[in-house]
Amino acid sequence: MTVDWDKYFSNEAKLREPSVMKMAARTPDTISFASGMPHPDCFPLKGLSIKYETADSGFSKLATGSNEDAVNAAQADDEIYEACQYMSGRGTTFFDKFCRHHIEEFHKPVYGEWGTLIQSGGTFSLDAIIRMLCNPGEDTILAEELTYPCLLETCRPLRLKVFAVKIDNHGVIPEDMERILTDWYTDLSTKDYKKPKFFYSMPVGQNPSGVTMTVERKRQLFGVCHKHDVLVVEDDPYYHLQLDGDKKEIPSLLKFDTDGRVIRIDSFSKMLMPGMRISIVTANKTFIKMLTMQNELTIHSAAAPSQLIVYMLMNEWKNDGFRSWLTHVQDIYLKRRNTILDAFDRHLPADLCSWNKPSYGMFLWIKISIAQFPKLEEYSQLTDPEWAAKLEDMIFEQALQDEIQLAKGHWFMIDQLNMAGFRATYAFASLDDIYTGSERFGNAIRQIHAKLYN
Ligand SMILES: Cc1ncc(COP(=O)(O)O)c(C=O)c1O
Repeated sequence: MTVDWDKYFSNEAKLREPSVMKMAARTPDTISFASGMPHPDCFPLKGLSIKYETADSGFSKLATGSNEDAVNAAQADDEIYEACQYMSGRGTTFFDKFCRHHIEEFHKPVYGEWGTLIQSGGTFSLDAIIRMLCNPGEDTILAEELTYPCLLETCRPLRLKVFAVKIDNHGVIPEDMERILTDWYTDLSTKDYKKPKFFYSMPVGQNPSGVTMTVERKRQLFGVCHKHDVLVVEDDPYYHLQLDGDKKEIPSLLKFDTDGRVIRIDSFSKMLMPGMRISIVTANKTFIKMLTMQNELTIHSAAAPSQLIVYMLMNEWKNDGFRSWLTHVQDIYLKRRNTILDAFDRHLPADLCSWNKPSYGMFLWIKISIAQFPKLEEYSQLTDPEWAAKLEDMIFEQALQDEIQLAKGHWFMIDQLNMAGFRATYAFASLDDIYTGSERFGNAIRQIHAKLYN
């Protein structure tokens, strides 16, 4: 299917022009008095070495690598120079190539005209994509009913309305999305708004629910988006954090995308380290060109020393070493997930709440059994969703007093739902603290329950 991608652009994007400051020299012999690039003699960095955990030691021993290890001296100098100098909005040539290979190796998009772009982290990529596609105060977006707060926080000041699509334990429910889009101009809740530009989805280890979308759901989801001409933004930072199963990579939405309507965001934050601030956007070439122009006038390019460090690490590890690294990280999170599940079994009151077992990522969802908590007379004027939020607040505050903090379910809700819940992560606390924190949280739930009863 050939799609006119230009029709999706926001007014801001349509008016954007390539920066004149990025003009290329007309011939290799042209002398430039035009560009503002500093002279290389003014760069103090002449080489880079990194200390890293080695794959063949199972990541228990350290080695030192230099950017000269994997390449010849001239190429090493070029890489250092590139990492120090201004560059195109695409980033360094060496990491640009690496990113395309990375996407090809793990996702193999099925249509021809796809491209990649290095950006400064998934949070920035999401903001850039929203600005590329949406007119403030006018456009609308679909998202899973529990969604990443940064989406909502980015959309709020831009006055972009987000509409919720229901999810269950298999991910987004395509029938609900189909119903919403089919009834858009007749349903009272949507008919006064423009049809959505895109569906924002976190298909793997969803933040906050921890749910992973099944392959069949992905296929159906793409079918609905294709039918209604809606784009998909696939924000997938937990893709490599697989905890169960046969460790065979699951297909990303790119695998179903025969049109080029999926805009995928990969982030190095969770598979490597968030401080690098590196993401890769994969999309059709029209969108990649537009995002590159946006880079030029916002971040210029993603920070090149970060690109070089990740590139050096990948050169030291090689492909197999990087895959071993992913397994290593998966093993760490698997142990942590099993620990929190054991701690919850021991300490959370199963008659007052329930929780899921995530197979990817770093989150799980604790659902409070609202019906077990009596609604006192003083709260009788509250609607069911308001009561759910109040109950959540009470448990949250009690937990804070008992020195355990979780993320409140309402922070992730597009609309106030008749649901009280909490996002827990097993990513950071020590294994001992996972037990202690679970005991504290279990007690907080019991205390609120007892207070409401007395
Ligand atoms: C769904 C989702 N997208 C993006 C991010 C942020 O990624 P980055 O560090 O690449 O900005 C997070 C981190 O929590 C996330 O959960």
